[in-house]
Amino acid sequence: MIQTYHAGRHFLQIPGPTNVPDRVLRAIDQPTMDHRGPAFGRFGLELLGKLRAVFKTHGPVVVFPASGTGAWEAALVNTLSPGDTVLMCRTGWFATLWREMAERLGLAPILIETDWRRGADVPAIAEALAKDTAHRIKAVCVVHNETSTGCASHIDAVRRALDAEGHPALLLVDTISSLASIDYRHDEWRVDVTVAGSQKGLMLPPGLSFNAVSAKALAAAEMARLPRSYWDWRPMLTANETGYFPYTPGTNLLYGLNEAVSMLLEEGLSNVFARHDRHAEATRRAVRAWGLEIQCAEPRDYSSSLTGVRVPEGHSADALRAVILDKFNMSLGNGLGILKDRVFRIGHLGDFGDLQLLGTLGGVEMGLRAAGVPHRPGGVQAAIDYLAGNA
Ligand SMILES: Cc1ncc(COP(=O)(O)O)c(C=O)c1O
Repeated sequence: MIQTYHAGRHFLQIPGPTNVPDRVLRAIDQPTMDHRGPAFGRFGLELLGKLRAVFKTHGPVVVFPASGTGAWEAALVNTLSPGDTVLMCRTGWFATLWREMAERLGLAPILIETDWRRGADVPAIAEALAKDTAHRIKAVCVVHNETSTGCASHIDAVRRALDAEGHPALLLVDTISSLASIDYRHDEWRVDVTVAGSQKGLMLPPGLSFNAVSAKALAAAEMARLPRSYWDWRPMLTANETGYFPYTPGTNLLYGLNEAVSMLLEEGLSNVFARHDRHAEATRRAVRAWGLEIQCAEPRDYSSSLTGVRVPEGHSADALRAVILDKFNMSLGNGLGILKDRVFRIGHLGDFGDLQLLGTLGGVEMGLRAAGVPHRPGGVQAAIDYLAGNA
């Protein structure tokens, strides 16, 4: 059935893809250029240089015309060999998918479980590393911000655990829903591969993904024996030296990326992170005022990109989301994996301001009422009170 027209702008409040700002849309809306011509090389060099600031790295950032899943694969196949042991933390649905990919590629993951209500268990990581005196673990893989739960992990603490054991494993981090939303420092935390995607904090449509790569990861790539072709960093890095790509890049998305990075740097990354923190706190206050439960049970691990909200027992999160879409033209994130129908997710990342947040929370509050989900009114007011006092 063709949906009837809804007046007013759709609220895309899933935790990515996020709303693409007009400046980025206009940048994308330019004639596609010759990706082997002289103008492209100049553009590529400028863009690749600028992009490093967002990852807080001085090293190379590889850009793939692919979704985030491709960048996951690139991180694994460039650094590891068949049968290698990798330590992975099942913090939620996306960590589960990364683990499944590692198994399909012929790696041997050791899994550290959580209850999907907190970030990665750093003491358990430290214990696994301490036991591994033979250094069989070749990489530790952590999802910085678990988009399925709204729980963030402490990458600096994971780094300290590796250092404390003097363990040589590589550190591979998925920042698909944290980059340019939550403080992240590739060089300072000595991350070896940072995996990222275009469609969340970077405010672009889906279609680009990234690997920021350390010198240690580049050295590992020389020894790694997993098969790779499209994802191989080496031809990419050689071509990137002059601003080009070894195969056809996503040219118009790169125009958008150039604009998005300019916007982030104009705002200042610390201001970008503070804005996300503030919107996340306002959202949590609204959820508590409604009398609903936040999926993340550990306040230290609260995500600033999204908030997962549990619906009361006997109620359906999917039915609530359907009512909100139908009546108020707003998309919210669904529950994934074990959280299916138990949780809805409010995305508050990307190009997002106070009034958009209040519209979003207004839509949720009206939706709770329309769908008959038991709650107290006053969530939007709680958010206003917080935002007004923290302008
Ligand atoms: C944390 C995380 N990792 C990986 C992915 C997979 O990325 P994609 O769907 O772009 O392939 C997602 C997608 O939302 C994600 O949120």
